[in-house]
Amino acid sequence: MRLQKFLARAGVASRRACETFIVEGRVSVNGSVVTELGAKVDPSRDVVKVDGKRVELAAENVTIMLHKPAGYTTTMSDPHAKRTVAELVPADKLAGLFPVGRLDTDTTGLLLFTTDGELGNALMHPKRHVVKTYIALVEGQMEDSVAKRLSRGIELSDGMTLPAEVRVARGPEARMCAALIGQGKDASGRAKRHDGKRSRAVLEKGGTYVIVGLREGRNRQVRRMMEAVGHPVIALHRESLGPVTLGDLPRGAWRELSSEEVDALRKLIG
Ligand code: URA
Repeated sequence: MRLQKFLARAGVASRRACETFIVEGRVSVNGSVVTELGAKVDPSRDVVKVDGKRVELAAENVTIMLHKPAGYTTTMSDPHAKRTVAELVPADKLAGLFPVGRLDTDTTGLLLFTTDGELGNALMHPKRHVVKTYIALVEGQMEDSVAKRLSRGIELSDGMTLPAEVRVARGPEARMCAALIGQGKDASGRAKRHDGKRSRAVLEKGGTYVIVGLREGRNRQVRRMMEAVGHPVIALHRESLGPVTLGDLPRGAWRELSSEEVDALRKLIG
């Protein structure tokens, strides 16, 4: 295996950054500094160090999905956060597990975690444009023309958004959105959370369910896009990331991805 691939897979950094580490002379193999990008290593025999610290591949990488509830901060450790997603996943049993991207504390839905540095970093890379699908419950009645405007791209404080898929959900599709966003049972099977009730109350006052497919992942992007067109978000839920969908995983529960799902993610990143 090429040295930079080994380093990226071990979660040191992205492959590009690992190449820089090699060229800078920060990487040694069996005690000798290697600055050549074509160098090969045998993960089962060679001792690889970065800045003098041994780097090893996890025995077998694991990728899981969590149905994130509202109220949990996306971090593996933050002494200031009230509740973190690390409490909901088997972080102590899976060394090196980290979240793939982040969801706002109030956002629910699909959050991937992996021990595979290469896969996680590639999925998060802004140039990959992996499509993430969200359901947003927004204030007021959104016109189709507004959804179209959002889908063409809109100016935010950090620049124009990329073209996206944005549509207003109606009829059965709106009912499906209501079920996905507000009616999830928690992992213990208890009835839905307070945000289901809040969603219904907002709908009675004329809220709109909007389905949003984004190819980028800027900070609070969906919330800022909706705010920019005068429809603040009441509740936000992520249903899928590329080929992987939350399905009927209960809120607060996690499961390991199948090998087919991991293969589909790998195919996506090339
Ligand atoms: N967009 C947001 O505004 N928030 C999220 O958590 C994810 C996407």
